[in-house]
Amino acid sequence: MKLRLDGVRKAFAGKTVLDGIYADFGDARAVVFIGPSGGGKSTLLRTIAGLEAPDAGSVTFDGEPVDYSSEEKLRAHRRRLGIVFQAFNLFPHLTALANITLALEKVHGHTPEQARETAMSTLRRFALDAHAMKKPAELSGGQKQRVAIARAIAAQPGLLLFDEPTSSLDPEMTAEVLELIEELKAEGRSFILVTHEMGFARRVGDTVAFLADGKIVEKESAAQLFDVPQSAECRDFLAKVLRY
Ligand SMILES: Nc1ncnc2c1ncn2[C@@H]1O[C@H](COP(=O)(O)OP(=O)(O)OP(=O)(O)O)[C@@H](O)[C@H]1O
Ligand SMILES: [Mg+2]
Repeated sequence: MKLRLDGVRKAFAGKTVLDGIYADFGDARAVVFIGPSGGGKSTLLRTIAGLEAPDAGSVTFDGEPVDYSSEEKLRAHRRRLGIVFQAFNLFPHLTALANITLALEKVHGHTPEQARETAMSTLRRFALDAHAMKKPAELSGGQKQRVAIARAIAAQPGLLLFDEPTSSLDPEMTAEVLELIEELKAEGRSFILVTHEMGFARRVGDTVAFLADGKIVEKESAAQLFDVPQSAECRDFLAKVLRY
């Protein structure tokens, strides 16, 4: 994936949330956003996903600027992405399998047979096939989130967006989901991950961006950012979150 942000700005009710974000992520496969709560990480991810339109500036994905003026073009943009949020967002009345086939049929135009085959092979790939016929209420938190990730990757998107995919999970289930994300990286898939898991950010990130007050304050290789943070904001943040 190639992603560039040029002067992205966004305000909600007069309050600036993204304050002119410039960043070129080049060919980085695994990009991680870290930073204090309220700094704008989710808003930036939602803007990249075409779920929010910036007030100014542009997002360029694989050499093409995202066109926020047309719902049809935004839908086409979103088809190239897989999105996983903190709170699963699985449909509660559908089985794991149907959660995956629904998007493949409705969004990606698969026939029911193709969708079923793709969904089952994706579930098998992550050892979730035994859960195919279960509804979300019958799955553990970690299983739900792995099904949500299977749904996001089933259509082979060019870029995956993860917004704190483990923040509602206990440590064992967090480990399950982080292992799955590491496997995706080993497979060569591109993703942007927002996380508060600093150890994981460091291990998995090719590039780590520190966001605070609506700006990318630092963007470095993981080792550089964690070992020699340049800004006082990033140093203070890391000192606080790495203390425990
Ligand atoms: N739809 C919205 N309407 C109004 N304000 C919003 C909206 N979405 C986000 N905000 C505000 O924008 C700011 C940035 O929010 P955002 O969710 O992007 O932060 P974050 O970095 O993801 O924080 P966290 O780590 O807590 O998830 C916050 O002050 C938030 O209250
Ligand atoms: Mg957030």
